[in-house]
Amino acid sequence: IVPSQASSDGFLKCLSGAIPTQLLYTQSSPSFTSVLVSSIRNPKFATPATVKPLVIVTPTNASHVQAAVVCGRQNDVRIRVRSGGHDYEGLSYRSERPEVFAVVDLASLRSVTVDQKAATAWVDSGATLGELYYAISKASSTLAFPAGLCPTIGVGGHFSGGGFGMLLRKYGVAIDNVLDATLVDAKGRLLDKQAMGADVFWAIRGGGGESFGIVLSWKVNLVPVPPTVTMFSVPKSVNEGAVDILTRWQEVAPALPDDLFIRVLIQKQVADFQSMYLGTCDTLLPLMGSRFPELGLNRTHCKEMTWIQSVPYIYLGSTATVEDLLNRTTDTTSFSKATSDYVRQAITKDVWVQIFAWLAKPNAGLMITDPYGGKISSFPESATAFPHRGGVLYNIQYMNFWSAATNGSAQIKWLKDFYAFMAPYVSQNPREAYVNYRDLDLGENVVVGNVSSYQSGKVWGEKYYKGNYQRLAMAKGEVDSDDYFRNEQSIPPLVATK
Ligand code: FDA
Repeated sequence: IVPSQASSDGFLKCLSGAIPTQLLYTQSSPSFTSVLVSSIRNPKFATPATVKPLVIVTPTNASHVQAAVVCGRQNDVRIRVRSGGHDYEGLSYRSERPEVFAVVDLASLRSVTVDQKAATAWVDSGATLGELYYAISKASSTLAFPAGLCPTIGVGGHFSGGGFGMLLRKYGVAIDNVLDATLVDAKGRLLDKQAMGADVFWAIRGGGGESFGIVLSWKVNLVPVPPTVTMFSVPKSVNEGAVDILTRWQEVAPALPDDLFIRVLIQKQVADFQSMYLGTCDTLLPLMGSRFPELGLNRTHCKEMTWIQSVPYIYLGSTATVEDLLNRTTDTTSFSKATSDYVRQAITKDVWVQIFAWLAKPNAGLMITDPYGGKISSFPESATAFPHRGGVLYNIQYMNFWSAATNGSAQIKWLKDFYAFMAPYVSQNPREAYVNYRDLDLGENVVVGNVSSYQSGKVWGEKYYKGNYQRLAMAKGEVDSDDYFRNEQSIPPLVATK
């Protein structure tokens, strides 16, 4: 339902009664566009055709967020919440269909408070991963947090979908290390873990963003890392045996000791084996010699550093500094489309040969494979809403890029065709996907009677959440049975019938 002009006016009036007007940006405000694009990561959602918010609210405390929800409810204006704006489909700030909505942008709510003694921290959703990692490193050189690689990702969206990076084999996904959270629900109440109840606390940890309310902050468990970690990057072309080494990697990487993580970036005719090892080169070399000699690792490949130095090194390049983690500016020049898969049975050598043929085609993109095993795989699938656990060998992310000079249709077609080609070789029934690599081509909600339908959500929901989809829908029914917080891929409410 598109609200009338009257309800939009009522909404704005209600907001300005509760929130300082300098924190509100309507479409006619001179700064509206700069605030809107401030964290847009994919410029394909910053065009004149993009369905934009009526107003952007930039709260500086919890009561502003509560007021935005109460005003939205009273006036039938929905809210989309944005933390870091990295959503692959831009759902935190744009709507796929014509709709009047507001954005609550949490960028100003970004404090990080570390309790070094207890090895815990409270982090606000609007903080970036870079800011979280930086604050931890200022408190201790041997504490870390296991989450994603890109420092400008927002904590709010990232944690909502699970969140993983180079520590996933040692410490699992980000939400495996969440101890408490604060949430503004669809009634505008501010709830902690106890007040929101076990079902909702379970759901916000991996059940995807937007559905259950606005998570304002998270209490996390910090994890120990040694004073020295070792990074390496070993590129192997097809001519140098990439097919054989990759075929072997699938068996080796998920079974290595948890301290060793080796992912692969596969592009054109090269597989780049990129690693973080929680220890020194002296102990890594014999380990690689016995477990994965095919890669031919030697001392010249080793780059020893602290854990915090490894963060800019892996994502921003070898000249980046730890201070660069505080830079929230994002690169908005490259357009992209992504999707994902999970592999449970090693892909055979002949198929890898065909995969490299796909990667050699015109307009081809790339694949990133992240090995599982270790801690991430140690939990039962229902322990958290993030379900991709035991039996997963690795996650695949497919990506393709283009510039403003084209409309991306050739690159998107390549991605879709390649995804179709991969179907027989990846997980099935459901074909699993990672919600943080959001792809609307997996399915979109259909709204029936002003509520997203459970059946329409099942199509994409079981890919993201497997058997947890139904329990997520019931948690949604508990906390937001009217489906106030919704988007194209939010969890539909399921209300138990008596
Ligand atoms: P954004 O603000 O766009 O929010 C994403 C979704 O969550 C939206 O639906 C939004 O409404 C909702 N949401 C946001 N804040 C919320 C809150 N406080 N409460 C409730 N809902 C909220 N992932 C990964 O696991 N490991 C990785 O290494 C990477 N690397 C990576 C690199 C790059 C360049 C990109 C663009 C993305 C990744 N990702 C990733 C994926 C990333 O984890 C995913 O896009 C996150 O959802 C982004 O969180 P943001 O807060 O930035 O997004």
